[in-house]
Parts: sequence; C-alpha cells; structure tokens
Amino acid sequence: MSDIKKIKDEFINKLKEDLDLNSVNQIKTDLFGKNGKISNEFKKLGSVSAEDRKKFASDLNLIKDELQIAISNKIKDIEIKEINLKLQNEKIDVTLPERSFFQGKIHPVSQVIDEISSIFSEIGFNVEEGPDVENEYNNFTALNTPDNHPARDMHDTFYLDVNKEYLLRTHTSPVQVRTMLKGKPPFKIIAPGRTYRSDSDQTHAPMFHQVEGLHIDKNINMGHLKGCLNYFIKEFFEVDKIKMRFRPSHFPFTEPSAEVDIGYKIKDEKIVIGEGDKWLEILGCGMVHPNVLRNVKVDPSKYQGYAFGIGIDRLAMLKYGINDLRSFFETDYRWLNHFGFDPLDVPSSYRGLSR
Ligand code: PHE
Repeated sequence: MSDIKKIKDEFINKLKEDLDLNSVNQIKTDLFGKNGKISNEFKKLGSVSAEDRKKFASDLNLIKDELQIAISNKIKDIEIKEINLKLQNEKIDVTLPERSFFQGKIHPVSQVIDEISSIFSEIGFNVEEGPDVENEYNNFTALNTPDNHPARDMHDTFYLDVNKEYLLRTHTSPVQVRTMLKGKPPFKIIAPGRTYRSDSDQTHAPMFHQVEGLHIDKNINMGHLKGCLNYFIKEFFEVDKIKMRFRPSHFPFTEPSAEVDIGYKIKDEKIVIGEGDKWLEILGCGMVHPNVLRNVKVDPSKYQGYAFGIGIDRLAMLKYGINDLRSFFETDYRWLNHFGFDPLDVPSSYRGLSR
C-alpha cells in the first residue's frame, strides 16, 4: 500500500473513535498543518518522476478531499451530540407552578395626562413639552407679566439663583412661548407637565400638574375657546351635558381673561358632574394678549387665538374620588395600589400577589 493510502486509512479510523472537538482539531493540524502529513506529501510532488507525477497528484488530491470531508462530518456530529446533551439536561418542566410576579400601577396623574392628551389629539392638538427649570423670560417677561406682579414674588416662586434668572416654572404657559418661538402659526398644541409654587395645604402642593392649551390661527375667537373646553370636559367626565360658567378674571398674558367653573352636586357622598348648584373652578383661560404674540414674533393683526391652563391634579381628584391632593405625592404604595391603574389588562388570576 502506498504511503498516502496508509495515512488515509490511519486517520479515517482515528476519526471513527469517540473524540471531542479538540482532538479533531489536532487531527486537522496533524494532516494539514505546516508539517502535516498531507502537507508534506504535497511537498514531495516536485521530486516524483515525471511519469508518476500526474497519478500521484490526483490520488493525493482525492485523499485530501476525503479526509477533509470526514473531518467536517465529525465536527458536525460532535456539535449535534452537544446540542442533544444540552436539550436533555436543560429540559423545562412545564408542570411547575408559575413564579409570582410583581406588577406596578399607573399613577392617577399619569393616567389622567394620557386621557387628556388623547381627547385633545382627537380634535387636532399636538402634544408639546417644556422643561421644569425655566428662565425668567419664558415664565414671566414674554408672557407680559410686569416686574411688580405678585406671582414674581419669592413667596410664590422657587428661584434657583440669586439673580432670579432661573426658576421652577410656576405654570405650563412658558411652553406657549417656546412653541411659538420655534415655529410658525398656526399653532394648536397642548402641553402637560409639572409646575411649582411655594404653597402647601390640603388643596395645594408645592409641585402640581397643569395642561396648557394654545390655539392660534387667522380667525380664532372666544366661541372656539368655549366650544373646545365644553367638548373636553364632557369627554373627560364621560357625561352628555355639563354646566360650565366663565367668570371674568385677569391674567397678564390673556385679554379678555376668564376662569371656568363646572357645576356639580354631591349625591350619596359622590360627586356628580353636570348637575346641581355647586361650582368648582378648574381652569384659567383667555384670548392670547397681543403683547405676547409680539414677543414671539407673531403679528397680532393677522393671527390671534386662545390659551388655557387646566389643573390636572384637581381633575384627577374629581374624576377618581380622591380627596387629599397631598396623597398624590406621598409615594405610598398601598395608596397607589388602590387608586392606580393596571398597565395591562391582566386577568386578576394571573396577577402576582407578592406584596
Ligand atoms: N397660567 C395660568 C395659571 O397658572 C392659567 C392660564 C393659562 C390662564 C393660559 C390663561 C391662559 O394660573
């Protein structure tokens, strides 16, 4: 038998043994490495006599192919064996009872912000956002608020520096300014978010939430404002008719200005919206002051419109029967568990009770 046939038989037999991946790689090197047995046979080609060379070369190539195929088949076999072993060892027992999992709740304020955003987006409002830390210009000056206005007082506003340049926004109205400065009219936006005032009792918290509304276009009037708020309140409280009252008021950034009350009554210790003779203030609004429009480079002789600012926490309290505003921000998990909303409609039987 020729040398190369011997090599072939020897290694084909070796590959039949029970080998691991390392041993197969070793075989590969022994055959085809720099000093591998097959590599060395190829080196001999030059010294083979001319008449034998052709046959030797073709035999050698055949053997090389055969060995390479045998090696790659062996590697495949080993890999499949490994997978099967893994499958056997890591079998999942589907009869095991599930591990209970912890499901959080959506805070009522977040829920109400989502509800408000979806109601307004249905009638064409885009949602905008602004930062909690504002500059004095956007929060007051651009909004036509004079230097001596009581809202600018240290007792009302949290300033962040001695120069009173930066502050925690006292309302969401600066988002009106930001939106109009960065775009061109028409504008039709709402801007929900956190607001801050130096105030704390059962119905006032130093941090609370508002949603700003702004609609500026060529022919917007107070009738549009009333229609829009009427629609919103009905949708939000899911009632067919409401009682709504516009009371003349004053804001530096709107003229005329109004505060809006909704009518309600208490029946069986529950609030009923749209009936009765009690009134509850829920928002401030008005037609955007021409000075504000000028400050944001909008021509008030061509464009005008309305703005409003609604207290979100109060709406949430009313709709979901929560009577102390402070409980919203106490981060009491039992409270959240009671008043919060399910993020997914998971059937209660699947809900983990690891509380
Ligand atoms: N920013 C006012 C407030 O916080 C509310 C408001 C917004 C009034 C827009 C008029 C127009 O009280």
